[in-house]
Amino acid sequence: MRVVITLIVVVFFAACMEAPNVNMQQVAHGQQLYEIHCANCHQLDGKGIARIIPPLLNADYILKNRNLLPKIIRNGMQQRIFINRIIYQQKMPNNNKLTDAEITALVNFVEFRFAKSTQLLSADSVKNLLNK
Ligand code: HEC
Repeated sequence: MRVVITLIVVVFFAACMEAPNVNMQQVAHGQQLYEIHCANCHQLDGKGIARIIPPLLNADYILKNRNLLPKIIRNGMQQRIFINRIIYQQKMPNNNKLTDAEITALVNFVEFRFAKSTQLLSADSVKNLLNK
């Protein structure tokens, strides 16, 4: 009986963690890329660095500009932006060696981990956003 209950609990949590349209393999790939290309600045926990590097974790900017994510990652950015009421104005370098598939994985990792979204983007929609 105990084994059965344990099993039910495990299956229940697995189902909760893996929302139907979240490809966990892709998110894991995105995490590896994040550690290589982004974590130096935005930090592993996505909290950024003081008033110099903006946070990704719970950043209102991401929630309001979801469709810009692929292009921000590919082209970098340099403008005056408000994120969670703090102003940032440093340069983020481009990542123009990353493929569309790698950018898709990164976008989905950032969305899932830092914006707590389960509405992840398909490779096709990321491609469209990159070509806009
Ligand atoms: C050299 C440091 C650096 C690296 C590396 C870097 N960024 Fe940034 N990032 C910044 C800075 C600085 C800004 C703010 C730019 C501005 O003010 O225009 C920013 C802005 C952003 C934003 C929009 C603002 C926000 O916080 O929501 C996103 C999203 C983002 N970066 C994601 C990434 C991702 C994903 C990677 C890895 C592919 C990455 N960045 C790599 C420094 C960096």
